[in-house]
Amino acid sequence: EVRKGFVIAVDGPAASGKGTIARALAKHFDLPHMDTGLLYRAVALKLWRWGGDPNVEFEALRACDDLGFDPGDEELRSEPVSRIASKISSYPSVRDALLQRQRDFAAQEGGAVLDGRDIGTVIAPNADVKLFVTASAEVRAQRRVRELLERGMPGHYEDVLLDIRARDERDAGRPVAPLRQAPDSLVLDTSDLGIQESIAEAIRLVGEQVGLK
Ligand code: DC
Repeated sequence: EVRKGFVIAVDGPAASGKGTIARALAKHFDLPHMDTGLLYRAVALKLWRWGGDPNVEFEALRACDDLGFDPGDEELRSEPVSRIASKISSYPSVRDALLQRQRDFAAQEGGAVLDGRDIGTVIAPNADVKLFVTASAEVRAQRRVRELLERGMPGHYEDVLLDIRARDERDAGRPVAPLRQAPDSLVLDTSDLGIQESIAEAIRLVGEQVGLK
């Protein structure tokens, strides 16, 4: 018998499939879902619209005040905003400013699914299940190109691959909350799996973990 009200932490690099998997897990287990990358993207978008300097930490911090955003806003997913988000997410003060909102979401009574880079390590270290979703850089670049084409945006494989490698390095190499696998996480490598297979495997892993407790 699967318990209700558990917390699932989903972490992994860009374009690993973690967002799709987290949404599917939320639906399957009837849990609320937070895409924490959107918080960083919302700060980045605000800063961009202001004409603020992403290289100045206190300007990025100011953009965290009264942070409201429309999750459906396509600009949140644009390339310039992705780049600024990657930059401003390296500031300790920005991470601190966004911390409580994520912790509160993870602590709600009915449980939750959160996906990001530091959910299992920093935001919800006591999560019932931690999934680390990964895939090779080449496979992730192919997926991103397809995604861009579907949105009618041009994407060149070589450029996207370089961009993904650079972002991986920044996200994993930064001194503050680098992307790292929690020691108690379950690794799901989606390199050789389609979307439906990845989702099925994630549901199986989570079910096994919470069903046994
Ligand atoms: O998952 P994403 O691509 O939407 O994330 C956008 C940026 O925010 C990415 O550069 C990593 C950063 N991020 C983070 O540092 N911590 C999180 N929990 C989520 C995202």
